[in-house]
Amino acid sequence: MKYDFTSILDRRGKDAIAVDAPEMEGIFGSDYFGQAKLKPGFDRIPMWVADMNFPTVPTIPEAIIERAKHPAYGYFAPRDEYFDEIIRWHEKRNGVTGLKREHIGYENGVLGGVISALNVLCSKGDSVLLHSPTYIGFTGSIGGNGYNMVLSPLVQDEEGIWRMDYEDMEKKIVENHIHAAVFCSPHNPTGRVWEREEMEKMMEIYRKYDVYVVCDEIWSDLILNDNRHIPLQSISEDARNRTVAVYAPSKTFNLAGLIGSYHIVYNRWLRERMDKESSLSHYNSMNMLSMYALIGAYKPEGYEWVDELCQVLSGNINFACDFIREHFKGVRVSKPQGTYMLLLDCEEWCRANGVSIGELQVKGLEVGVLWQDGRPFHSEYGIRMNLALPFSRVKEAFERLDRYVFNGTQE
Ligand SMILES: Cc1ncc(COP(=O)(O)O)c(C=O)c1O
Repeated sequence: MKYDFTSILDRRGKDAIAVDAPEMEGIFGSDYFGQAKLKPGFDRIPMWVADMNFPTVPTIPEAIIERAKHPAYGYFAPRDEYFDEIIRWHEKRNGVTGLKREHIGYENGVLGGVISALNVLCSKGDSVLLHSPTYIGFTGSIGGNGYNMVLSPLVQDEEGIWRMDYEDMEKKIVENHIHAAVFCSPHNPTGRVWEREEMEKMMEIYRKYDVYVVCDEIWSDLILNDNRHIPLQSISEDARNRTVAVYAPSKTFNLAGLIGSYHIVYNRWLRERMDKESSLSHYNSMNMLSMYALIGAYKPEGYEWVDELCQVLSGNINFACDFIREHFKGVRVSKPQGTYMLLLDCEEWCRANGVSIGELQVKGLEVGVLWQDGRPFHSEYGIRMNLALPFSRVKEAFERLDRYVFNGTQE
């Protein structure tokens, strides 16, 4: 490999809630970690919040540092390169054609973009269709903005693959007079990378009932094994016009702390309404250094880096799924096709061992496995695990879970 995905990055004291949250009162995640005391002899392995424990591609810090050397940081407008690199990225990675500068709009965050789009598409208290399990950030932001989330559960087929339940979706759309849906592609937390036929079927229903779609494609660069991401807007002319898509280099390149995302909207009416809506707070503006981060990320080195990253993540996911199948009786997992998240279903194990899901989570935390409660993701016996770590750390975590949590007792 050209890039380093094996060194263990010490992030302590470097502004990372992934590792510091257990010591930080009142910070997202700290209440949860506060339930457990780390046993002596164990260090913490960060496997919860969705960022990565790898150094990013060097062209990103290089671009930021180069610009920062010039000691004036006044008002600015995004450079042509910003738009050109985004257009190239989507063309080269996903075969997108016809994307122009005017279709791209800056968003501070993907969630902010989702809310701006919903503010255009919905009126107060409207119902919005989502699938469950559901990314925790949707629950907070969509509910918090006064929309009524109507959940259509994904169901696992005989091979354990999560599928949409079209009948249920249609019924809920009709019953709740729904005209907006949020679609997560690839899906967090199940890791599904949707197939063209599945999305076509979904869009057929949305067309029939005049439902507009906000498609969160923040994970679309992180595709595992032989899977392939298909942008929802490329499915058909109708999908292109019915969909607001939101992207970011933040998940792909570990830039969440720098802030910076963007939307792609082909439909002019939607785009202009969204731009107006997101301008109202006067907070939705680009940071110069995060613009340089994106330009550095979408350089040729960034393409290579992401290809290598996806290989590493695929290896970690394959190892973890095999390990669970072989060693953790009563724990079920559907192998993710994208993202670096694993959603464990521990119901059978909890029932067989007379241990509650809360107690099970504490057992993991006590031996340093910082995993995440799946219940806020609408997964009753779920635990979400982030596998974006050097393989040696992933292996260590699973060995601890084997020895001290699922198959042994803690001393
Ligand atoms: C599906 C999904 N959307 C959005 C976000 C957050 O994006 P942002 O920080 O840009 O709002 C995440 C972060 O994990 C995510 O998983």
